[in-house]
Amino acid sequence: MKDTVLIAGAAHTDRIHDSATKHVTGRADYTDDIAMPEGTLHAYLGVSEVAHATLRGIDYTDVLATPGVIGVLTAGDVPGVNDISPTGRNDEPVFPTDLIQFHGQPLFAVVAETRDIARRAAQKAKIDCEALPHALDPIAAQAAGYGHVTAPLRLERGYVGPALETAPNRIQGRMTVGGQDHMYLEGQIAFAIPGEDDDVVVHCSTQHPSEAQHMVAHVLGVPSNAVVVNVRRMGGGFGGKESQMNLFAAVAAMAAKKWNRAVKIRPDRDQDMTATGKRHDFVIDYDVAFDAAGRIQAVDGSFAARCGYSADLSGPVTDRALFHADNAYFYPKVRLISHPMKTNTVSNTAFRGFGGPQGVIAAERIIEEIAYATGQDPLDVRKTNFYGGPGRNLTPYHQEVKDNILDRLVTELEETAAYRQRRADIIAFNAGSPVLRKGIALTPVKFGISFTATWYNQAGALVHVYNDGSIHLNHGGTEMGQGLNTKVAQVVAEAFQVDFDRIKITKTTTEKVPNTSATAASSGTDLNGMAALNAVEQIKARLVAFAAETWNVDPAEVVFHANEVHIGAETLGFDAFIRQAYLARVQLSAAGFYKTPKIHWDRDKGQGRPFYYYAYGAACSEVTIDTLTGEYRVDRTDILHDVGRSLNPVLDKGQVEGAFIQGMGWLTTEELWWDEAGRLRTHAPSTYKIPLASDRPRAFNVRLADWSENRELTIKRSKAVGEPPFMLGISVFEALSMAVASVADYRTCPRLDAPATPERVLMAVARLRAGG
Ligand code: MTE
Ligand code: MOS
Repeated sequence: MKDTVLIAGAAHTDRIHDSATKHVTGRADYTDDIAMPEGTLHAYLGVSEVAHATLRGIDYTDVLATPGVIGVLTAGDVPGVNDISPTGRNDEPVFPTDLIQFHGQPLFAVVAETRDIARRAAQKAKIDCEALPHALDPIAAQAAGYGHVTAPLRLERGYVGPALETAPNRIQGRMTVGGQDHMYLEGQIAFAIPGEDDDVVVHCSTQHPSEAQHMVAHVLGVPSNAVVVNVRRMGGGFGGKESQMNLFAAVAAMAAKKWNRAVKIRPDRDQDMTATGKRHDFVIDYDVAFDAAGRIQAVDGSFAARCGYSADLSGPVTDRALFHADNAYFYPKVRLISHPMKTNTVSNTAFRGFGGPQGVIAAERIIEEIAYATGQDPLDVRKTNFYGGPGRNLTPYHQEVKDNILDRLVTELEETAAYRQRRADIIAFNAGSPVLRKGIALTPVKFGISFTATWYNQAGALVHVYNDGSIHLNHGGTEMGQGLNTKVAQVVAEAFQVDFDRIKITKTTTEKVPNTSATAASSGTDLNGMAALNAVEQIKARLVAFAAETWNVDPAEVVFHANEVHIGAETLGFDAFIRQAYLARVQLSAAGFYKTPKIHWDRDKGQGRPFYYYAYGAACSEVTIDTLTGEYRVDRTDILHDVGRSLNPVLDKGQVEGAFIQGMGWLTTEELWWDEAGRLRTHAPSTYKIPLASDRPRAFNVRLADWSENRELTIKRSKAVGEPPFMLGISVFEALSMAVASVADYRTCPRLDAPATPERVLMAVARLRAGG
C-alpha cells in the first residue's frame, strides 16, 4: 500500500509549474507589484562615461536643483563598509571614491519623487575625472601588465611537456568564446522599507537572499538580524541575480534609512545591461597530442577570462571552466591553467553553467580539430576518447568518473536521430549544392553537480502543518521560473501523502531560513528538496509516535496514504488526524536541514571530489548555412538528456529545452561588443539578439533518459537539470562548423570563434575558400 501513489502531484509525475497560470495571466507577484507605502521614493543610478579614470569629484548642483529630487546618495553616505564584494575581497565599492574602473560604473544615485525625475536628473551631474589608459579584454590586459582579479587555478596530472614534444600528432590552436547577457525578462529591482531602530526590509529580485541580507547589513553597518530580505519569485535570474543585485539592494536600503521612506530602484534595460556583469568571455589556447587513431595523449590548456574590474564570482567561474575542460574525455596527461584577468569592463559573474560551458566548448573544439586532422567522423573521435575502461576514469582534478552513462546515452541518440545516415545524406547534399550547405554534429555533455565552495552545499527548510491540516512550505531556495518550488512541494506532498494543493508555497525570506546558499549551481532541488523532506520526516516521526501511543498500535501500523492516515484497523482523514495531534499538543512544525555528503576539494593541490555526481546529456543538431550571406537556420535537433529519476518530467523537459536554446543563443547570435572607448554598444534587445521563437530548431525532439537513476542518494534519485543542458547548444556550433568546412571538402577544421554570428560564418567560409 505504501508504494502506490494515489495523491495528485506526487514526485515523479508531470505537473505544471505551480505559478504557470499566474505567469501568463499577469497575476504572479513580482517585486515591482508590491503595493508601495505612502511616500515611497525612487532611486536611479548615475554612471561613469569613461572606462578608467581618476575620480576628482562630482558636482550635483543641477541634479539637486531639479524639482522633485530629494537628494543624492554618494559613497560618503555609506554608514558601514563601502563594499559589496560577494567574496569579501573589498574590491567592489557600492560607489567608488577615487577611481572609475569601467564605462557605465555606478557612481551615485539620485533619489526623487518619481522614477522618471530621478532618471533624468541623474544625467545632470558633472563628473570631474582624469582619464587613464584602459584594457578591455584579457589579451590587452595581459599586454598592459594587469594582474589577476583572483588567484589562478592549475590542474595537472602527469607531465604534458615531454608528451607534447614527442607526440606523433600535435595541434595548437586558439579559440575566442564570447560572453552573454542574462536578458532575464524581469530586470534588477530592489524595494526597501525602513523599520524602527536599525531595521530594514528589502524586497529584491535575488537568487541569493542571504547574501543580499549580509551585504546590506555590512553596508549599513548593522548586524544581519536587522535586515530582512524577501523574494517571492524572479522573472528569470540565470546567474545574473546571484551577486549582481547586491548593488541595488544596498542602494535601496541606504536610501530608505537615510530618508526614512520606502525606496525603490529599478534600472531601465540599457542601464541593467551596462551596469551589471555577464558571462565571462574567454580566450582559450590549447595544445594537444594524439595518436593516428585520434586518441588524445596530452592536453595543455590555458583559459584567460575577461573578469572585469573586480573578482565577483570570477574565481569559482574560471575554476569551473577548468573542471569542464575535459567534458566527456579522458586526457592521459593534462595541464590546465586559468587566467582570471582584470579588465576595465563591468565585473563578470555567474551565468548558467558558471564557466563550465566555456570549458566544454574547448574540449569539443579539440575533438573537432583531431577529427579533421585524422579524417574521421567527429563522433568517432568523441567515442574513442570517452571516459571509460581501465585506467581511463580520472579527471584532471583527480576525481574518478564512476557514474558514466555516456556510451549508452550517445549510442541511443545516434540511433534515434539516425545520425550516421543523415551525415552521409548531408555530405551528398553538400556535394551538389553550391550555395546552401548543411552540417550535423552530435555532442555530449558531462556536468559536475555541487558548489565547488564546499560549505555552500547546505540548505534549510521550514514546514508548518496548521491545525486544519493545511501545510506551509518554506525553504532557502528561490524561484526564478525553473520550477524549484513545484518540485519541492511535490516532495512534501508525497512524503505526507496529501494532495499538492494543500501545500502553500511561500516567499523566500531570510527570516524563516537563515544562512542559505544562492539558488545556483543547479542544486536548488537537490539541496532544498532534501531539507524539506528532512523537516517533513521530523513532523511525521512525532505524528507516528503520537498515533502509536494513542491508538496503542505498533508504529509500523501507522501509515500515511492518499490524504488519509491508517492506524491499525482505523482510518482517519489527514485533517481529522492533524486536529487530534494538535489537541494532544504534538509539535506540528519543524526546521529541516541537509548537507551534501562525500564532497571535498583542495584548491591548492587541485585535487579532490568537488562533485557529488555528474549529469549527462547529448544533442544532435543539423543546420543549413547560406554561404553567400552567412545566415543559417537550425533544421533539426534531437536531445537525450539525463536527469536521473525525474521528479517532474514535464518541468525537466522545459529546463532542457530552455537551456539548449539559451546555449544556442550564446554560441550563435548573442554578441557583446565594446567600442574602443570601452562602451558596451550592444546594450538593448535592439542590438543584442537573443534567439526568437522563429530561431528554434524546425524539428525539436527532446527526450529524458527515463532509464537513468542517480547512483547517489539524491532526492528521490533525481539529478540536477538547470545548467547541464545549456551545453547541448554546442551541437549547433559544431554543426555550423561542419557546414563551413564543406566548402573546402572537410580537409581543414574551420577557425570559428564564438559566437558564430552570420558575419563570422561568412568570414570563415571566405577564409577557407581563400585556402586559409
Ligand atoms: N530556468 C528559468 N526559467 N529561469 C532561470 O533564471 N536559471 C538557471 C536554471 N534554470 C533559470 C532557469 C540557472 S543559472 C540555475 S543555476 C538553475 O536554474 C537554478 O535553479 P535550480 O538549482 O533550482 O535548478
Ligand atoms: Mo546558475 S549560473 O548557477 O545561477
